[in-house]
Amino acid sequence: MSVTIEPIPFFETNYTWLLYEEETKNALLVDPGDFTPIDSIIKDKHLNLQSLLITHHHSDHTGGLRQFKETYSCQVFAPMKERDRISEATHYVQDMEQISIGFAQFIVINTPGHTLGSICYYDANLKILFTGDTLFSLGCGRLFEGSPDQMFQSLQRIKSLPDDTLVYPAHEYTEDNGRFALSLAPNNLALQKRFEQVKQLRDAHKPTLPVLLETEKKLNPFLLAAIVEEFTRYRKAKDQF
Ligand SMILES: [Fe+2]
Repeated sequence: MSVTIEPIPFFETNYTWLLYEEETKNALLVDPGDFTPIDSIIKDKHLNLQSLLITHHHSDHTGGLRQFKETYSCQVFAPMKERDRISEATHYVQDMEQISIGFAQFIVINTPGHTLGSICYYDANLKILFTGDTLFSLGCGRLFEGSPDQMFQSLQRIKSLPDDTLVYPAHEYTEDNGRFALSLAPNNLALQKRFEQVKQLRDAHKPTLPVLLETEKKLNPFLLAAIVEEFTRYRKAKDQF
């Protein structure tokens, strides 16, 4: 069994992540915030779209939901805590709940901060983690609803996952985040190297994602912050960067 995972870019910076099994063509999407550009890929590849995973209620993550559900009758997983804001879901999921969808088995991890109900989806066998707007490469989501303490605790939970986990965030923010990270640690050679690699990828219009969690644990200032006060200081500085 082989699972292919590809980013589908839409809007300015968003990615929907497409997962499909080569043999069966069974497919799922994470955070389909738009319909037409994403659906054209599903059709080109002749995929059987079966499931949608939603990390949080923002419209750039849910905008394609209704049309995908109507077109493919797929099941839709969304956070229980945001059930009032994501009315199209077929399954509302809670912390540590297991989701089995054929070629993938996810565990739900509650990660409040960016929104109060934000969740991540983790598959321990495939070693993949979909982080929505909670964790980005070299950055983290803005605190629109949650407190710094909530986001700090959420990031600690992500940090506790194995180093060889591949992280799939929902935005291509790595270059901007890298610039901020370098402003905090200008002499960090590993960070300089990652930033150069990111710039080359972006110049070639290629995604900088996914990224190994090990890399993020070493370079992402928001994961390196040891205490909530340090995290809060970085988050405030980034908001004004
Ligand atoms: Fe968001």
